[in-house]
Amino acid sequence: MVVVILFSVLLAQTGFANQKQEPVQVKKCVMCHETDGGSSSDDTVPKIAGLGDTYFRKAMSSFLKKKRKEPTASMMYKVISPSTSDADLDIIVDYFSHQEPVPAPVADPALAAKGKIIYDEGLPAKGIIACAACHGDRGDANFSIPRIAGQNISYQLTQFDAFTQQTRKDVDSKMMARMILNLSTDELTALAHYINTL
Ligand code: HEC
Ligand code: HEC
Repeated sequence: MVVVILFSVLLAQTGFANQKQEPVQVKKCVMCHETDGGSSSDDTVPKIAGLGDTYFRKAMSSFLKKKRKEPTASMMYKVISPSTSDADLDIIVDYFSHQEPVPAPVADPALAAKGKIIYDEGLPAKGIIACAACHGDRGDANFSIPRIAGQNISYQLTQFDAFTQQTRKDVDSKMMARMILNLSTDELTALAHYINTL
């Protein structure tokens, strides 16, 4: 038993886990999100590697029910069907949530440093609480709160718009909108740069 566990840990650490055969159910996903879920070639496509089970399923269901109406969401409408079986969804979620997230190169260190201050401490003058309070110091809180560490910058900015304009309408979307309501575009851009480096 101990040997088996050790072996699994070794496999995960050396990255072999990422190379496991890609199941047929994820074939269309990897066209945009890539085999490792790293979505590195298009900044508007979110990284989904390591995204937790609870939030992943919620996001899939939100696209299916068209609760997310940001312009880019329509790309997801085409790939999700109500006829996807629970068994297929389990395979899809299991595959991507077990991919190792790959950190992004730092795009703009000065902007990221500005974002870090708001992320860690909030902006009391504007009634903004620290993002870290919910998303964790490293952006890796990962349950009904989404993992945001390393997330692509354009994708984040689209979501900030979607929250404030309420085109994204999930149970928690209004709450997230309140968290960023008084932030300027520059502050949100700085935050997105910092989160991208986590
Ligand atoms: C044509 C490109 C494309 C394909 C194919 C695609 N996606 Fe997406 N996916 C996107 C885009 C773009 C978004 C961001 C949508 C938005 O802005 O709301 C997204 C968002 C997501 C999200 C939400 C991430 C988050 O953090 O909220 C999940 C989960 C996801 N996709 C999973 C999948 C799965 C699973 C498949 C295969 C069944 C798939 N995608 C196929 C382009 C694609
Ligand atoms: C009170 C808890 C809480 C705080 C504080 C908070 N968030 Fe969130 N955040 C959430 C939840 C919950 C969601 C998911 C919302 C949904 O599903 O509509 C979310 C979603 C997001 C997303 C979209 C993730 C995705 O994959 O689509 C981003 C980006 C984000 N938050 C960034 C921030 C930033 C930046 C701050 C600080 C200014 C912040 N959050 C503060 C709870 C919080």
